[in-house]
Amino acid sequence: MRILVIGSGGREHTIIRKLRQSPKVDKIYAAPGNGGISKDAECINIGAMDKAGIVEFSKKNAVDLVFVAPDDPLAAGMVDTLLANGIRAFGPRAEAAVIESSKVFSKNMMKKYHIPTADYEVFDDPAKAIAYIEEKNKYPVVIKADGLALGKGVIIAQTQSEARDAVREIMEDKKFGDSGNNIVVEEFLTGPEVSVLAFTDGISLVPMVSSKDHKRAYDNDEGLNTGGMGTISPNPYYTPEIAEICRKTIFEPTVAAMNSENRTFKGCLYFGLMITPDGPKVIEYNARFGDPEAQVVLPRLKTDLVDIIEAVIDERLSQLTIEWSEEATACVVMASGGYPLAYKKGLEITGLDENGQLEGVEIFHAGTKLENGKFYTNGGRVLGVTASGRTLDEALDKAYAAVGRISFEGAHYRKDIGRTK
Ligand code: AMP
Ligand code: GLY
Repeated sequence: MRILVIGSGGREHTIIRKLRQSPKVDKIYAAPGNGGISKDAECINIGAMDKAGIVEFSKKNAVDLVFVAPDDPLAAGMVDTLLANGIRAFGPRAEAAVIESSKVFSKNMMKKYHIPTADYEVFDDPAKAIAYIEEKNKYPVVIKADGLALGKGVIIAQTQSEARDAVREIMEDKKFGDSGNNIVVEEFLTGPEVSVLAFTDGISLVPMVSSKDHKRAYDNDEGLNTGGMGTISPNPYYTPEIAEICRKTIFEPTVAAMNSENRTFKGCLYFGLMITPDGPKVIEYNARFGDPEAQVVLPRLKTDLVDIIEAVIDERLSQLTIEWSEEATACVVMASGGYPLAYKKGLEITGLDENGQLEGVEIFHAGTKLENGKFYTNGGRVLGVTASGRTLDEALDKAYAAVGRISFEGAHYRKDIGRTK
């Protein structure tokens, strides 16, 4: 098979490494890919949002399957366009990807189908939002831009004045562009967070092994929200009892709700959950693999990913048994100094050469470029240094040992991955 993976981050690098393990795969392309990905796939100079370019390339190069990994092209209907052109594609259509691309949609859907989530109100008028927040007078309060915002469109306001600033930044200053035309104001929940990714063909749903992201930029969960600074799998808070409650009250009802709305979801559905004192609740849905959740979940997958993808597309997922390794995994993200705000690019990365690496460690490139045989930083999140071990501690020790061998100017990483709630 000839497979084209759309995207250019650490998640896409991880997917490509996993696809390479399949005996069914002859050739992998990445559009546009990155420096590290170019060692594992042929990178083509077509943007992730360029539907016509992707279709033309796929036809010309007899691509058998396109894996659409990032949120933007899914929301923009990349899968719809590919299917309309007779090209097999993995990922939800735009009408289903809306579960991620509109928080207003997903919150209203959860309310309608009684799927547990934080109480909320939707606003299209900043003055009304502020009046509501002041009347409730309960802090912290959570303010979310409706649309996609690179994982940064959520503000947890500790005071009335922070809440007011957040509403104005999102709705008036348009910090996230049109994503902030509407906002969700919701109740602040507490408890450990769990990420559960699941394969679904719209009929059945198979949860993958659990994971935990660390979204804040700094240790002790301080600093701004980021796309994700590190992950572990499994998530110690996700017990079999919790998993069973999630299956019954969240996972299966979500698949059914999307069908009832004529928005059948096929692909990887991501549940961002919080285990609150009142039970598990949905914080957010994503219509795709998480980044950096994919980096710890996919290395544990023993079943051929191509078989799973085909079963999802052909709606026969229930016939497949999906197997996972019992090992624990940990991913530490090395980011550019300053991320998620402004940062420098083009800094040389040293210590990546194969012989310096450790057994059981894999390095997924998120934002790198390769020039004259050398790697340079080229994004906010630069590398996802991932390790597996018999225990979480072993995986973390290995990942941090590998991080210690890699350097670039201003490199920033969290030292407490796997150690916080
Ligand atoms: P989201 O992009 O919706 O996943 O939100 C980003 C992060 O903000 C989550 O991972 C949580 O840590 C936090 N968050 C979002 N909604 C809430 C909430 N209702 N209560 C507490 N924390 C939240
Ligand atoms: N790591 C969270 C996300 O991919 O949205």
